[in-house]
Amino acid sequence: MSSFHLTRTLPEDATEAALRADVLHGLTCSPTTLPPKWFYDAHGSMLFDKITELPEYYPTRAEREILAAQAPEIARATGARTLVELGSGSSEKTRLLLDALPGLHTYLPVDVSESALTQAGHFLISERPDLNIHALLADFTAPLHLPHTPGPRLVAFLGGTIGNLLPAERTAFLTSVRAWLEPSDALLLGTDLVKDESVLVAAYDDAAGVTAEFNKNVLTVVNRELGAHFDPDAFTHIALWDAEHEWIEMRLRSRTEQTVKTPALDLAVDFTEGEELRTEISAKFHEDGVRSELAAAGFDLMRWFTSPGELYGLALAAPSRSAPALRPAADRITACVR
Ligand code: SAH
Ligand code: AVI
Repeated sequence: MSSFHLTRTLPEDATEAALRADVLHGLTCSPTTLPPKWFYDAHGSMLFDKITELPEYYPTRAEREILAAQAPEIARATGARTLVELGSGSSEKTRLLLDALPGLHTYLPVDVSESALTQAGHFLISERPDLNIHALLADFTAPLHLPHTPGPRLVAFLGGTIGNLLPAERTAFLTSVRAWLEPSDALLLGTDLVKDESVLVAAYDDAAGVTAEFNKNVLTVVNRELGAHFDPDAFTHIALWDAEHEWIEMRLRSRTEQTVKTPALDLAVDFTEGEELRTEISAKFHEDGVRSELAAAGFDLMRWFTSPGELYGLALAAPSRSAPALRPAADRITACVR
């Protein structure tokens, strides 16, 4: 008999407290920043789903192609009975894994978006009457308290969301995931790959303007949740390729000189005309870089699957046998500038 259960791992006011802290920190840094996890209220999650269908946004299609071809091999190699998915969103591609894992007992999607978790959960439960679905409303960069479920566990982190973390945040994140894995568990990590700049920039600056709306949605979230006075129309969406760091950077550029007040935080932030607020990095990878970041966190890269045209890579990794005992890194990392 199937079941759907949602656990809020944080008290009701924790989201507001975390947003206040991030806004205070990010808007008083120079250059100003806001962390990308605040894109994903119900409207932002819907916009992200629209992005995944844009002709310019290839990563979702490329990852789906890999999963369609390799899910049976991933199932054979891991024998997973629990699938944990971090940043699960709509869980749309995940169905390829769920269908390929014959002995699967529990699916544990983890996300900060309650709307994404409930929509995906209710849809999946109608399709998979045999499955226990235990959704966790949680921040995957904070310590996670997972319910006890049968092993082996496969932890999937798909979509290239690892690229939205800065390098030091990635190390802390992977190290903490490694710390709660057993030797028979595995990690499935989706990574977008470095490619021609024009292809990359188009994926983050689409002709229909959906990514621009997604980018500006963070201002709407801060307005609604903290009573800030951002005018989204007073900012322009920017996507640029940083060749040195090999990441796409999304920014919001102030169209005019303006002061944005957030009375609840006693905060007034001055923007000069053309000043930019960084809202997201989306790092792109090479196989060697993925292998070494995994190794530094105590994982061995077991299999490396790529999509046709080498657009996208999916890494299947296992806890290294040789790694020393690892401690989770700092609970939470915020970074002001790179
Ligand atoms: N994995 C899906 C969705 C990717 S979009 C796919 O491949 O299409 C990124 C998802 O991660 C969103 O659903 C967002 O709400 C979630 N997310 C972003 N930052 C998060 C965080 N710190 N903790 C938990 N979920 C997060
Ligand atoms: C969720 N994440 C991997 C997306 C990306 O491509 O970095 C978020 C996104 N930002 C703009 N478009 C999509």
